[in-house]
Amino acid sequence: MKRADVLVLFGATGDLAKKKLFPALYEMEEAGELEIPVFAVASSKWTQDEFKATVEKSIRDRNEALGQIVDERVLKNLLDEMQLVVGDYKEPSTFEKLQDALSGFDLPVVYLAIAPGMFADVTKGLNAVGLTESARVVVEKPFGRDLESAIALDDSLKKLLPEDQIYRIDHYLGKESVEDLLVFRFANTLFEPVWNRNYISNIQITMTEDFGIEGRGKFYDEVGATRDVLQNHLLQVLTMLTMEPPIDMGAAALQNEKIKVLSAVRDVTPENVVRGQYVGYLEEAGVAEHSQTETFVAMRLFIDNWRWAGVPIYLRTGKKMAETTMEAVVEFKQPPRQLFTAKGEPAPEPNIVRFRMGRHDGVDLSLQAKAPGSALVTNTVDLTVEFAAALGQRKEAYERLLDAAIVGDHFRFTRIDAVLQSWQILDSILKSPTKLHPYFDDAWGPDEALEMVPGGWTTVGKLADKTP
Ligand code: BG6
Repeated sequence: MKRADVLVLFGATGDLAKKKLFPALYEMEEAGELEIPVFAVASSKWTQDEFKATVEKSIRDRNEALGQIVDERVLKNLLDEMQLVVGDYKEPSTFEKLQDALSGFDLPVVYLAIAPGMFADVTKGLNAVGLTESARVVVEKPFGRDLESAIALDDSLKKLLPEDQIYRIDHYLGKESVEDLLVFRFANTLFEPVWNRNYISNIQITMTEDFGIEGRGKFYDEVGATRDVLQNHLLQVLTMLTMEPPIDMGAAALQNEKIKVLSAVRDVTPENVVRGQYVGYLEEAGVAEHSQTETFVAMRLFIDNWRWAGVPIYLRTGKKMAETTMEAVVEFKQPPRQLFTAKGEPAPEPNIVRFRMGRHDGVDLSLQAKAPGSALVTNTVDLTVEFAAALGQRKEAYERLLDAAIVGDHFRFTRIDAVLQSWQILDSILKSPTKLHPYFDDAWGPDEALEMVPGGWTTVGKLADKTP
């Protein structure tokens, strides 16, 4: 694939640009990977100086938070490569201005870091000035708000762009820790033979945040936890954990396996869902008076295929929770006979593989070992690796995603059939949402969700001390 020769960023004054995209551009500049100019487009009437000051602040803030020193030369080079184009996204003149600015470039990457409701309008504007002929268009999640709207959005984009020019973002696919699920499963012979219903009793995927909606009330209230995180990030993690090995590591082979496993996921029914809302959510700015939007959701899913039949897969995500964590726990069945436990005594902890995908990503393997002393009894021991310590620092998701779009690799993006299938799984519960349970912060969501997993979620109490 040909490398893009210019990057266009719609939504340049937005939250995502400030928090993720500008710092990612800085990292790319530092690594010598950007090498192309950046045109930022925004509807706010900012001057070039105001814009550059915002970019600079976002980079300095991020580096300070990470305790990293800003390389002034890199920052200056990046700012020199950036330019702001101001204009209303519905006005043809905005796109004419952009077309002028882009004359002389052949292959733009156009990143739409804007409200999903604007995707179609902006694509039409780009099309009107001929910019969709070669452009790779990157669209942020969520792609639609249910099956019907995702189909409609796809139809409107497809009229203007072929599938191979569309790059649908799910930034979890840019995380090295999520990609590691594939490496762990398919580069090690140790686990794959037991990775099925004969040995695994259940899987638990948890993505929780100890903060609330952080000023995003208006956006969040129309979306909620199911659409914001579960439909995309959590279903992607589930797919990586449960799909069959692809025939190679090309984008097409990977996407084919993803759609296969997603097609086998049973549509979710109300008795397999718990929705919650944190106490205090209704007072947040931008939230509707009697909002029924969930800030927490837990689900029990089943994959009706040969490998996973009968294995419950639990997913949960929430804001204002006890801890910020992103992890998947794969719990194994007990050995067929308990040789080290006296009659009537509880069985030892089952074996567990725990993938930590948050800031301190790594893997824990929880095993049984002989307890010291003369008795033949066991204790639980954990083999733990923290990837950054063992292997060095990983790259941030957005840096890898921008780079993939620039080189034209679809591996880290979602394909439309998989996106539609993930909406299909949730369709009926999105149409008729279940009861909303209140929960207090500093907890793990409503009690109803805690009771979903027989014996409790493995993270709570048992391994929680290692949560990053
Ligand atoms: C975003 C959601 O997609 O992912 C946010 O819109 C959420 O609500 C964020 O906070 C979490 O991303 P990460 O990479 O910090 O786990």
